Amino acid sequence: MTVVHITGARPNFPKAAPVLSALTSLGVRQQLVHTGQHYDDKLSDIFFRELELPRPDVNLGVGSGSHATQTAAVMTALEERFLAERPSLVVVYGDVNSTLAAALVCAKIGVPVAHVEAGLRSFDLTMPEEINRKVTDALSDLAFATSPDAIAHLSREGVPADRIHFVGNPMIDTLLAHLDRFDPEPARQAHGLSGPYAVATLHRPGNVDDKAHAVTLIQAIHKCADLLPILVPLHPRGRARLLELGFADHPNIRVVDPLGYVEFMSLVRGAAAVLTDSGGVQEETTVLGVPCLTLRPSTERPITITHGTNRLVRADTLPDELQAVLERGPLTEWPVPPLWDGKAGPRIARVIVDWLNARRAR
Ligand code: UD1
Ligand code: UDP
Repeated sequence: MTVVHITGARPNFPKAAPVLSALTSLGVRQQLVHTGQHYDDKLSDIFFRELELPRPDVNLGVGSGSHATQTAAVMTALEERFLAERPSLVVVYGDVNSTLAAALVCAKIGVPVAHVEAGLRSFDLTMPEEINRKVTDALSDLAFATSPDAIAHLSREGVPADRIHFVGNPMIDTLLAHLDRFDPEPARQAHGLSGPYAVATLHRPGNVDDKAHAVTLIQAIHKCADLLPILVPLHPRGRARLLELGFADHPNIRVVDPLGYVEFMSLVRGAAAVLTDSGGVQEETTVLGVPCLTLRPSTERPITITHGTNRLVRADTLPDELQAVLERGPLTEWPVPPLWDGKAGPRIARVIVDWLNARRAR
């Protein structure tokens, strides 16, 4: 009985860590596959060191490419492997191309799939992640939901109730497990930040690929930088374009390379506000009680708005929204979504073990 975990891109690693660890505690034999979708140290290896993830059993080395090239490379490599090894269950995480590719391969050759973070929907099919989420959910034997809205989406799409498990959020397990390591003081000093500051991340194609839109966004963020310094750990996607368009040309904008998990979360924890288009960062700020202004027209994580610190903003409203956040000052109370309590990994592991045992008994 072997459970195989598929990881490949930065957001996968903090989601997989608690599930691996909980299954290890239950004595389950596991393999960890890294597809190689992300390969820079700061997008990949640093997470293995900092989160004490086991070394991947294999790195497929697929690297970057168009959607079709990347997805096909993962599929080809996994199909060969899974036909030879026939895992008992393959666990996929989130909504990246590696997630979709693994789910497709498994469905075609009859290997069961469990999807961690199932049912999230932005209802925006221009996001590649929305396509990945919908297809992966349609093909999964087990759907692990992080929020009640996700359950409702899965039910509406015809996923049988006995496949859906509301387990909480493994990304938040990782955050809570490492909370003591998130110390804003040394991190802010290392970046020369004194006084209030904001952290910004940008990498969604919808924000960085279109030149006109990117220019509008840069102008809005520059207006924000008139209010306070903004540290921007910039993802490689769109980096060259944003810099070419003058993103760093403001004395209060500090563009740096992507940061390791502990340093990044330390800076987020100490920030007066976070400006982002990330999925995971909307969740992390919610738990840390840091105001989050999300630069997107929609979010697949609406619970971070209804039960958290998040707001969707447009470029033209961003500076005023930030001003309001700064005038209001630090939050003393904020709601946190149900079951975001650091125990999602053990809940997922329990369901998996029971499911595997029931299947074996059949
Ligand atoms: C991917 C995910 C996105 C997720 C993001 C997290 C898909 C479709 N998108 O986006 O959902 O939010 O990861 O970070 O799966 N690159 C490097 N070094 C690397 C990896 C990539 O420089 O280690 C550059 C390459 O130029 C590459 C570009 O980044 O072409 C995009 O990488 P890719 O993995 O295709 O998508 P992301 O934008 O990273
Ligand atoms: N993150 C990090 N360093 C950074 C930016 C992000 O460690 O410089 C972490 C953070 O925990 C975040 C996760 O990487 O939640 C995934 O972020 P990303 O925005 O790349 O992916 P998304 O959640 O949008 O798919």
